[in-house]
Amino acid sequence: MGKMDGKVALISGGAEGIGATVGRLIVAEGGSVMLADVQIDKARELAAELGDRAAAVELDVRDLDAWHRAVDATVERFGKLTVLCNIAGISEPGNVPEGSLDVWQRTIDINLNGPYYGCRAAIPAMEKSGEPCAIVNIGSMIAIRAAAFVAAYSASKAGLVGLTRSIALDCADRGVPIRANMVHPGAIRTPMYNRYKFSGADTPENIETNFAATHPMSRIGEPEEVAKAVVSSPAMMPASPPAATLRSTAAVQSGPENMSQTPPRPDRRALRGRRQVSRYRPCSARSA
Ligand SMILES: NC(=O)c1ccc[n+]([C@@H]2O[C@H](COP(=O)([O-])OP(=O)(O)OC[C@H]3O[C@@H](n4cnc5c(N)ncnc54)[C@H](O)[C@@H]3O)[C@@H](O)[C@H]2O)c1
Repeated sequence: MGKMDGKVALISGGAEGIGATVGRLIVAEGGSVMLADVQIDKARELAAELGDRAAAVELDVRDLDAWHRAVDATVERFGKLTVLCNIAGISEPGNVPEGSLDVWQRTIDINLNGPYYGCRAAIPAMEKSGEPCAIVNIGSMIAIRAAAFVAAYSASKAGLVGLTRSIALDCADRGVPIRANMVHPGAIRTPMYNRYKFSGADTPENIETNFAATHPMSRIGEPEEVAKAVVSSPAMMPASPPAATLRSTAAVQSGPENMSQTPPRPDRRALRGRRQVSRYRPCSARSA
């Protein structure tokens, strides 16, 4: 029995990169996928390769009406919608004073408005399914610790953290069995990463070394690693709908501890000392 048996997922950005890898894994685990992307030919090619439990639909995540069409197409083809993976995203460099306004607007539109529209269109269909459902939004380690060279990307992914938590709280408040979780990857070997690696800003080798050095494991991650984390949330969905439990977590991959262009790390010995002090409670305080 597969971990995703009977589950139906709508995946934005499903044509290539992390989204395509998530699509492959869900089908391998017994689920069905609707691959939604602006690159419709690539999405269709992958769907054809994956077989009957995969289909493709054209979607620009900036378009709420297109999201409604994608949700309807999913329900029409597979009978329900129980998993939404908001994976489509872009990353373009630029700081605030000199970065292009276009980059700011495009990034917020795709990385933040896109998942908002997706959740807005998908949640009513998920509620109608009558089954426990899951939303998985892809953040980034940069959502946790911003990077100077990508102002719009940092803001969009940090904004998505708030949106995801708000959705989880709302579903819990309303007793709706929909989980909302995030996965925050480090640098992952996909077309997006390769656009940085082969940008010409430095040699590809130096760019790879520098990106790898920002991760504790000193290497670039693979999309399969992210896909496993994404699928772990819907795969953990209980068989019967829970009442009103808040279930919103963030899985961080390739932790950001050594990121360049971030504030210097605090001295670990000082932190250890502070923790010891804060743990100390005199007996009278404990009983108070
Ligand atoms: N690759 C990394 O190093 C990395 C690291 C952290 C987070 N992420 C995040 O993971 C997600 C996927 O990244 P990736 O590396 O697979 O990117 P990618 O560029 O390799 O693939 C992104 C996919 O999204 C689609 N897409 C882009 N704009 C779209 C739009 N407006 N509407 C619909 N589809 C659109 C593209 O056509 C493509 O198929 C993104 O949200 C990204 O921010 C990636």
